[in-house]
Amino acid sequence: MIKVRKTTVIHAVAAAGVVLLAGCSKEPEEQPVSFSKDVMPVLQEHCSECHLPGGEGEVASGLDLSSYEGIMKGTKFGAIVRPGDSTSSTISILIEGRADPSINMPHGDRPPLSKEETEIIAKWINQGAKNN
Ligand code: HEC
Repeated sequence: MIKVRKTTVIHAVAAAGVVLLAGCSKEPEEQPVSFSKDVMPVLQEHCSECHLPGGEGEVASGLDLSSYEGIMKGTKFGAIVRPGDSTSSTISILIEGRADPSINMPHGDRPPLSKEETEIIAKWINQGAKNN
């Protein structure tokens, strides 16, 4: 009788240990986003035709989105990427439609980016906006 109870207690302790370990492990690891493989293709499709040197958007705002250096430099008014913080990064505010419709990007009657595309940019910024 006592023996049975002891085993039960040991099992209970072991089970609790497993639960604790599971609780400690992190959320499923987020896939690292690559600047060259994931971010650049999105910008090339939606932004680069206006935001490359001499393009309509680059001339108007000073923003060259055709290179990592250009993206990190931002507009003539300042940075559009705050590494680690997509919520307050101008680029995410504009492409996620969080700004006034008149200044959201892409400009004019272009279709907005898909949720997947804006999430790639947001993740890349939140992971430190690296040139990877
Ligand atoms: C059809 C041309 C065009 C396309 C495509 C375009 N832009 Fe622009 N962009 C402009 C123009 C023109 C301006 C300057 C006038 C303005 O702010 O509305 C500008 C300004 C900006 C600014 C500065 C806004 C500010 O308030 O300082 C950012 C940031 C920007 N664009 C990002 C993007 C991103 C990101 C994309 C792609 C998702 C994109 N643009 C696509 C034309 C374009």
